[in-house]
Amino acid sequence: MSVVVSAKGVEKKFGDFTAVKNTTLNIRQGECFGLLGPNGAGKSTFINMLYGVVRRTSGELKIFHMDPNIESRSIKKRVGVVTQENALDESLTVWENMMIYAAFLSIPREKRKDQIDSLLKFMNLDHKKEANIRHLSGGMRRRLVFVRALMGNPEFIVLDEPTTGLDPAVRHLLWGKVKELKNRGCTILLTTHYMHEAEVLCDRLVIMNKGDVIAEGTPKELINKYTPGYVAVYSAQKTTEEQINSLSTKKPNFLFSKDSTGFHLRAPTLKDLIDSRQEITSEPDQIRPANLEDVFLKTTGQELSADD
Ligand SMILES: Nc1ncnc2c1ncn2[C@@H]1O[C@H](COP(=O)(O)OP(=O)(O)OP(=O)(O)O)[C@@H](O)[C@H]1O
Ligand SMILES: [Mg+2]
Repeated sequence: MSVVVSAKGVEKKFGDFTAVKNTTLNIRQGECFGLLGPNGAGKSTFINMLYGVVRRTSGELKIFHMDPNIESRSIKKRVGVVTQENALDESLTVWENMMIYAAFLSIPREKRKDQIDSLLKFMNLDHKKEANIRHLSGGMRRRLVFVRALMGNPEFIVLDEPTTGLDPAVRHLLWGKVKELKNRGCTILLTTHYMHEAEVLCDRLVIMNKGDVIAEGTPKELINKYTPGYVAVYSAQKTTEEQINSLSTKKPNFLFSKDSTGFHLRAPTLKDLIDSRQEITSEPDQIRPANLEDVFLKTTGQELSADD
């Protein structure tokens, strides 16, 4: 399978501060690749280096075999980007913003109108085409930035938190579109703070923390490696930490952690958890398979274990 993006030891320093450290990864043609990590991990900085908005400090970076430090303009024409900040011209209308971008991409004049019309329809924005950007809701702006990135049918699409601020129905609509783009052979780089979204869309992903890539794999591989099994969530109002923790001490393959949602007990199988219910006076609020959110909290050190 051919590689669309290859990064070897990529680094970005802002003065003395290193925002992206020694990052090595490959994005294969036709996959949806996820870039996850806490706020400030370096995700947007990496994305910005990829299409030449930010110049990397060192390392090798290629997209379509081009170096973004040198060929940024050609890259921008082949990549659709949903930036984290909307970057729309506030003084213009929806239609005018789309037309400017169509001109930048050198889409033939006679094709612009039809393409913009169909893109706006797709995200239910056609009734807003004469509206000024500043009169759009936050979710509508996000939808507009998304469809603008699809203009000219790019082979590679970068989505930096594309669904932030979208209502659940529109978010699902966008997921459907991302899957459709993938089925057409498009390669996608996705950043999101919604772990379920990453699980639904990403073939492979990396987790970054403080500029470093700390984990890499398919969602399933990451769950199996870092947080295999099932999780029972107990409410802090209904049970005590000691009760849950003592169970995890007695059973070596049980793991205890806690967060604002309550106490978590993770065990290798569903049966282990169900069998252990008699030893705890209250019923769990939830029993579920371990998910990418568990992996995220564990690998980024944000999960509190019994020892903290
Ligand atoms: N132009 C800049 N000058 C100085 N520091 C910067 C600049 N851009 C980003 N940083 C710093 O680099 C680090 C990484 O920022 P970045 O925006 O890449 O994080 P992120 O992973 O995208 O976070 P978020 O999830 O909040 O979007 C942060 O500490 C940020 O303050
Ligand atoms: Mg960001």
